[in-house]
Amino acid sequence: AAPDRLHGMRVLISAGPTYEDLDPVRYVGNRSSGKMGYSLAAAAARRGAQVVLVSGPVQLPTPPGVQRVDVRSAAQMREAVLAALPADIYIGAAAVADYTPRQVAQQKLKKTAGSQTLTLELVRTPDILAEVAAQEQVLKLVVGFAAETHDVEKYARGKLADKHLDLIVANQVGIAGGGFESDQNAATAYWNDGHRVFPGTAKTQLAEQLLDLIAERLDA
Ligand code: C5P
Repeated sequence: AAPDRLHGMRVLISAGPTYEDLDPVRYVGNRSSGKMGYSLAAAAARRGAQVVLVSGPVQLPTPPGVQRVDVRSAAQMREAVLAALPADIYIGAAAVADYTPRQVAQQKLKKTAGSQTLTLELVRTPDILAEVAAQEQVLKLVVGFAAETHDVEKYARGKLADKHLDLIVANQVGIAGGGFESDQNAATAYWNDGHRVFPGTAKTQLAEQLLDLIAERLDA
């Protein structure tokens, strides 16, 4: 595909973690840095795409030319993503919490005298990626990420099918030189009848290689 294949396309990207509040001072979060999603947003904008970046709480500057929408929780991320549709391409690079506290306490939770344990009740969050992939508004390509510690291909292909994605980018977490918080990543992308291996490289470089693949899959 030509390097400017994404020119003028509306590309919606989610990035970063979500924070699920427990009370006014505590939350359940995860170690996503947002670097992969931000690198994709920066690279897509450089290619002339109209990029909307829905971002959980991260310590990163907004890439030039990118429209950024800040959110905190999975529920807020879902609202912001659905409000930003339609788009030509959706890339779900956020590490969305799978569970959120059933209740948010209005006052700071206190230690209970005489009890050594505390049980939190969590409920499932909506799967934003699956919901986007099921939209009536036709997207040309829906791309997900899968961070796995084991059986990477099996789980990645399972998510590709279950969530009705066009492409899934899987990376092994819990190994040196990649994954959460790192500037580097190695990944394998899977689609219905193929895959491509991306050896370990800077996330900025991986973003370029992934956009090349996305451009190719648009024409497939
Ligand atoms: O199922 P799992 O969380 O591993 O799937 C990862 C993919 O699904 C990522 O692309 C992530 O952004 C997306 N996801 C989502 N909403 C959720 C959970 C995951 O969009 N509630």
